[in-house]
Amino acid sequence: MIDSYRQMEIRDGAMAKGLDILITAAEIQKKVEGLAGRIGKDYQGKNLVVVGVLKGSFVFMADLIRQIPLPLACDFLRVASYDQDRSTGIVRMEFDMTQPVAGKDVLLVEDIVDSGRTLTHLLKHLEEKKPASLRVCSLLFKEVGSGVRDKIDYLGFTVPNRYVVGFGLDSEGLYRSLPYVAALR
Ligand code: IMP
Repeated sequence: MIDSYRQMEIRDGAMAKGLDILITAAEIQKKVEGLAGRIGKDYQGKNLVVVGVLKGSFVFMADLIRQIPLPLACDFLRVASYDQDRSTGIVRMEFDMTQPVAGKDVLLVEDIVDSGRTLTHLLKHLEEKKPASLRVCSLLFKEVGSGVRDKIDYLGFTVPNRYVVGFGLDSEGLYRSLPYVAALR
């Protein structure tokens, strides 16, 4: 009962903020557990380096790595292509990883793949560093017919073609701390 009151409070709070909740905190946690389990099995005995794309992936990555039952290293890089919630079409590397990944098994962690431009750019960039393997885990994939779905090895959820926020994703710097994923109205 307390849980369902809490759910109502969260939903009503979201509506007041002009958000439609698409994926609840509980659904995300269940999915993260499942993804971490698969990754744990697939990377047994490997030299796993989890690379997060800042800033959007930091919440997802923090939850994910804590459920992967393997020794692993973390690194980050930062790219920017959005300006005030709109894609500029140009992917700019703001900073790169700090450790070499040659010969290591790299898992790139994204918050959302939309047009796929960022992902395509990052895969090319990482391949040049000669990792032993390179795979992609993304919390979200936006249905825009970009044709890059097959580049995502571990996917959380597919979302409709709306601007989404929460669980690390922002709109002009806000909403990253929401425990759910919601669409802006
Ligand atoms: P892409 O290059 O169009 O695939 O966009 C990828 C990046 O744009 C993501 O890593 C996000 O940072 C940002 N992005 C794209 N769509 C959204 C959205 O709906 N909400 C928040 N950020 C988004």
